[in-house]
Amino acid sequence: MLFLDKVVWITGASSGIGEALAYQFANQGAKLIISSRNEDELLRVKQNISSNCLIIAFDIADSTAVEKAVNTAINYYGKIDILVNNAGVSQRSLAVDTQIIVDRKIMDVNYFGTINITKMILPFMIANGGGQIAVISSITGKVGFPLRSAYAASKHALHGFFETLQLELKPEDKIFITILCPGRIKTNISRNALKYDGTLYGKMDEGQEKGMTAEICAQKILKSIYQKKPEVYIGGFDILLVYFKRYLPTLFYWIASRVKPT
Ligand SMILES: NC(=O)c1ccc[n+]([C@@H]2O[C@H](COP(=O)([O-])OP(=O)(O)OC[C@H]3O[C@@H](n4cnc5c(N)ncnc54)[C@H](OP(=O)(O)O)[C@@H]3O)[C@@H](O)[C@H]2O)c1
Repeated sequence: MLFLDKVVWITGASSGIGEALAYQFANQGAKLIISSRNEDELLRVKQNISSNCLIIAFDIADSTAVEKAVNTAINYYGKIDILVNNAGVSQRSLAVDTQIIVDRKIMDVNYFGTINITKMILPFMIANGGGQIAVISSITGKVGFPLRSAYAASKHALHGFFETLQLELKPEDKIFITILCPGRIKTNISRNALKYDGTLYGKMDEGQEKGMTAEICAQKILKSIYQKKPEVYIGGFDILLVYFKRYLPTLFYWIASRVKPT
């Protein structure tokens, strides 16, 4: 068992990648905390888990709620070994149309929510002798992509924050950060994505439908966390965009502006 008796907190565990991660961490012996806003969905996930599993439902964009959640988690288990920052919301709208309130909302959830919970847990992890922080970014954390301006910005911001944090931490803190960058994964992400005015997009995109399953994605995430990899790309053809941008930028702009974004 790769994570026997490790206390693992997964945000965004009510569906998709987070739900698949919850099952796989439980199968590898972890004690879980599962979070998202929807308590009923978390109860459904918990019913499929036989090991220790605490539900803490809260909105990651609400700082007071995050603080309360961290206190509840620490009081319950006494420590957090691994924090998996997975909660997130996507976008389906042109930058020029997107209302600034929607840009802010996506940053509040994907960026500020993630760094807020991380900053609150980090001192406990260091005091406890170490730990791991995983961040579910995206291939759009490395490259721009049509209809994802705010989403790509929020994921790029996570790279800036977590790379810097890793550099600032001392070896004796024993904190390892893994940034995961999936391509298209078949989850409800497009259904839950926000349109230009903040309403739900509500559709399963063709690109999403054809994506990697959440189960395979979760397997690769678990392996990467276990191996303490700093940054990992997960997916098929989409991964190539990262390398095209790095080594053949003209080709990247040509392809990325022509790929069907939905
Ligand atoms: N699917 C993909 O193609 C893909 C690719 C790259 C990266 N990702 C990233 O993977 C992560 C998981 O996404 P997914 O594909 O599994 O999509 P999903 O099925 O829509 O899951 C998103 C999760 O985030 C939670 N969440 C959303 N807003 C929240 C908030 N304000 N507070 C707390 N929890 C919130 C949702 O739960 P509630 O609604 O119950 O709050 C849900 O559990 C995201 O960070 C996403 O950006 C996904």
